[in-house]
Amino acid sequence: MTKAIIIKKQGGPEVLELSDINLGKPGPDQIKVKNIAIGLNYIDTYHRSGLYPLSLPSGIGLEGAGKIIEIGSNVKDLSVGDNVSYAGGPPSSYAEERILPAQIAVKIPDGVSHKIAASIMTKGLTSFYLLYKTYKVTSKDVILFHAAAGGVGQIFSQWAKSLGCKLIGTVGSDEKIAIAKENGCDHVINYNKQDFVKEVKDITKGNGVSVVYDGVGKNTFHGSVECLKTRGMMVSFGNASGPLDPVNVPKDIQPKSLFLTRPSMNNYFTTRDEVLEGAAKLFEQIKFGKIKIKIFKEYKLAEAKQAHEDLESRKINGPAIFVI
Ligand SMILES: NC(=O)c1ccc[n+]([C@@H]2O[C@H](COP(=O)([O-])OP(=O)(O)OC[C@H]3O[C@@H](n4cnc5c(N)ncnc54)[C@H](OP(=O)(O)O)[C@@H]3O)[C@@H](O)[C@H]2O)c1
Repeated sequence: MTKAIIIKKQGGPEVLELSDINLGKPGPDQIKVKNIAIGLNYIDTYHRSGLYPLSLPSGIGLEGAGKIIEIGSNVKDLSVGDNVSYAGGPPSSYAEERILPAQIAVKIPDGVSHKIAASIMTKGLTSFYLLYKTYKVTSKDVILFHAAAGGVGQIFSQWAKSLGCKLIGTVGSDEKIAIAKENGCDHVINYNKQDFVKEVKDITKGNGVSVVYDGVGKNTFHGSVECLKTRGMMVSFGNASGPLDPVNVPKDIQPKSLFLTRPSMNNYFTTRDEVLEGAAKLFEQIKFGKIKIKIFKEYKLAEAKQAHEDLESRKINGPAIFVI
């Protein structure tokens, strides 16, 4: 038996129950991992609330780091005893032990702790694909990232800055302005106090930005579109303020011939090679100090309800983890 957070129905943070479960053995392409640290991500709240469907009962959580304790017969490039971190479905990382597809696990390089590895996989691999694959950011770009002081925001901002672009970030409180600046934003706008569209137009002298990375969703979509220059790229990658209303293509997209994409991590890491490429780039950034991780808060598994309440009330300023 192992302890895991299980949800029997979707709903508020109270549906997160610490339970005893029997895991069984890993299948041929799976590994069993004893978790040491587990990442907390906003997407976990969508799985919990029902915004994203799950078949119930279900585990929850997409990323973690620990030690392999069993492997399936087809797994060739990982071994029992390896320290690994992973990101991706099916959700069930909020657990002392879990079984997962071997394809999404990578060895943690020497010098990187389990805590750091657990906190960067989802946020770091997302930053990687957003910056290199969805839109290839270069030093010529002026870009806008919403919720720049958040978990993805802090890693994304440091990485974007290392590419030499000009980075405008938005945040929801004055306290978060300094955090976003520390992480590399050249300009930070408090979108709860300032009109971010006007500010972006002022900063870019009316030109607009080449790409907007919008993980806030409902409350920012239309403003984000307004911030783009002609033929700019609207990257809607999350919905922290709620899901988007249907997009009106003639009104929102056509006037500036915009590109619109709604990317998901699972569509960017579909093969072992893609996972290994992203993880290698991410760990390189950590190794060479281009991305520095400050873990904002550590929780116990039994505090999952509190962790979700904190995340949804915008109190988490950076990567947060559960520690076993
Ligand atoms: N598509 C993908 O592949 C992918 C992968 C990973 C994450 N994501 C998305 O990326 C976004 C960031 O994820 P994260 O885990 O790093 O979370 P996070 O940024 O640490 O937390 C979400 C932030 O959204 C902002 N926000 C704006 N309106 C909000 C509202 N009404 N309620 C709550 N928060 C609100 C808050 O920042 P302020 O207070 O500064 O406004 C909050 O801190 C999420 O939308 C997530 O779903 C997408």
